[in-house]
Amino acid sequence: MTGQRPLLLLVDDEQGTLDVVGRFARRAGFDVLTCSGGREAIAQIEARHAALVMVDLRMPEVGGLDVLRAIRDTDPRCHAVLMTGFACVETAVEAVKLGAMDYLSKPIDFGRLDQLLGSVREDIERRRTLLSMESDVARRLEFCGMIGRGPAMQELFDLIRRLAPHVRTVLVTGETGTGKGLVARALHKTGRRRDRRFVTVNCSAVVETLFESELFGQMRGAFTGATETKPGLFEAADGGTLFLDEIGELPHGIQAKLLRVLETGELHRVGSLEARHVDVHVIAATNRDLRADVAAGRFRSDLYYRLNVVELRLPALGERREDIPYLTAAFVRDASERLQKPLVGVTPGAERLLSSAGWEGNIRELRNVLERACILADGDFITERELMVSLPVWTPAAPAAPEPVRAPRVPPERLADVERDHIQRALERASGNKKAAAKMLGLSRRALYRRLERLDLSNTITRRANGALLVEA
Ligand SMILES: Nc1ncnc2c1ncn2[C@@H]1O[C@H](COP(=O)(O)OP(=O)(O)OP(=O)(O)O)[C@@H](O)[C@H]1O
Ligand SMILES: [Mg+2]
Repeated sequence: MTGQRPLLLLVDDEQGTLDVVGRFARRAGFDVLTCSGGREAIAQIEARHAALVMVDLRMPEVGGLDVLRAIRDTDPRCHAVLMTGFACVETAVEAVKLGAMDYLSKPIDFGRLDQLLGSVREDIERRRTLLSMESDVARRLEFCGMIGRGPAMQELFDLIRRLAPHVRTVLVTGETGTGKGLVARALHKTGRRRDRRFVTVNCSAVVETLFESELFGQMRGAFTGATETKPGLFEAADGGTLFLDEIGELPHGIQAKLLRVLETGELHRVGSLEARHVDVHVIAATNRDLRADVAAGRFRSDLYYRLNVVELRLPALGERREDIPYLTAAFVRDASERLQKPLVGVTPGAERLLSSAGWEGNIRELRNVLERACILADGDFITERELMVSLPVWTPAAPAAPEPVRAPRVPPERLADVERDHIQRALERASGNKKAAAKMLGLSRRALYRRLERLDLSNTITRRANGALLVEA
């Protein structure tokens, strides 16, 4: 996004002003969008982020103050400047109250206009620099698009670098959202086949009856619906890498056939007796416990042992919380670029919240939460408020207690118990800081103290044990 010209939305019912000011601003490095009425301007403000809006005060129907009001309500980061031929103190005051940064009287003094455009540009640059300083740190620690500062990931990156040139088959395991897809690509990109094809098959997305022909190809007329002869994905990946994602979903019947191809390097298209030779590196990934699947008879043990000669296990995000700030910086950077919001980062309170959440969905979940928060944020920083809305559930940092087995039709919990629980979780989230907890709960600090008293929680202490935050009553 660096180098992109900031957008100026210019609103006036006089074509002359639009022309003159527009030309000047373009020369000063802005992209200019013009509107000849307030209504049209408000629609633009709702649709996109303008760095600066310059609006005429008096226009028929929807006037300049209404436009300022719309900016305040929908895009408060935008700079706003009111222009008018009838300068009067009251309107100026009203405009400033509505968030206008400046007031230009007509005819426009170009010296002042130049100053104004300069200071808007400076402000945008300042925000960009802040944002890129943080994300530069994150970027330097990247490996093939993966961020991982802590020892667990650094070790994994090192392993990938060392293994990639030598291995033909790798099994990548880890919980959902830990980055198995990225690791598979990293292995390919770091290996000797980086310039050859990388073909992905998502085993959970292939219709069972079509699996064999998808993977190994088919001859025309081999079965009903086989209207043409075509190679399968193994042949498509010949000389390169085939990524079998969600390998745990591979139908049992295909498992034996896959094993044979891995062992002999030969396959038969469906309906053909001719053996074809393929030279394919295979990376398989799964979030299932394949060992348990083997024990349960769902996955062939011979295939499992063929695949797991080299196994790369991705740690869950909860096992590498030290990476959270770096992932956060990078995801906020990405989202703010995409959404064209000049977000600078997260507040320390929000950072604490992110570092202690449960993250069952791992990095994917962290990314989604931050993306939602970026949409909601209207200042330079993401705060706890946006996170409270976008974090899916209250997940304490301590290992979750097993779900209680509930008898059917349990009586509803007592309100006081629910309230006590909720408050305790807020305190955990806020690392024991009562002011922050009150804010999260939408209470004043005094109201929180009153409730703590009433619920007999006022002696609540927080302490850290094994890195996890515990709240004890
Ligand atoms: N180390 C990382 N740095 C930056 N982004 C990451 C990292 N790991 C994962 N991601 C991002 O998180 C998301 C989930 O990653 P990915 O799809 O690779 O997970 P997965 O382990 O394959 O999950 P699943 O088992 O659900 O398929 C992706 O958007 C990916 O870009
Ligand atoms: Mg995946």
